[in-house]
Amino acid sequence: MDDDCEKVAAIVSRYGSNRDSLISILQDIQSEYHYLPENVLRAVASQLGLPLIQVYGVATFFKAFSLEPRGQHIVSVCLGTACHVRGAPAVLDEVKRRLGIAPSETTEDMRFSLETVNCLGACALGPIVVVDGKYHGQMRPGKLKKVLGK
Ligand code: FES
Repeated sequence: MDDDCEKVAAIVSRYGSNRDSLISILQDIQSEYHYLPENVLRAVASQLGLPLIQVYGVATFFKAFSLEPRGQHIVSVCLGTACHVRGAPAVLDEVKRRLGIAPSETTEDMRFSLETVNCLGACALGPIVVVDGKYHGQMRPGKLKKVLGK
C-alpha cells in the first residue's frame, strides 16, 4: 500500500467506511493535501465501494473542493456589491501585489492561493477578506500586511 492509500484508509476508517460521510471524508482529504488529487479520489471510491463518478460528482459540486493543487493558505477577497463600493478592488490589488499572483493562482512556493468571491453574507463588515476560513472585516490595503503575515 502506498502512502496515499494508507492516508485515505486512515481517513475513511475515521468515518467507519460510511458512504454517507463522503463529504466529510473529502473535507479531511482536502485539509491533508490542500486539494483532491485524482489518485486519492480513486482510492476513496474503491475503499467506499462507490462509483468514481459519484465521488467526482461531489468533489466538483462544492466550490470548497478543488481538483487543482492549492496553497497551504487560501485567501478569499469578496467582490460583492457592498464590499466593492467600500473599497474591495483596492484591497484585491494590494493582495495581488503582496502575493505576486492573480485570482485563481497559487504562489510558486505553494503557500498561498488567491480567489475572489461574490458576497459572503457579511456585507455590513465589508470589505471582507477571508484567510483560511477566518473573516477579516473592514479591510484596508494597509491592514493586509498584518493579516497575511499571520
Ligand atoms: S458583498 Fe461582501 S460580504 Fe456581502
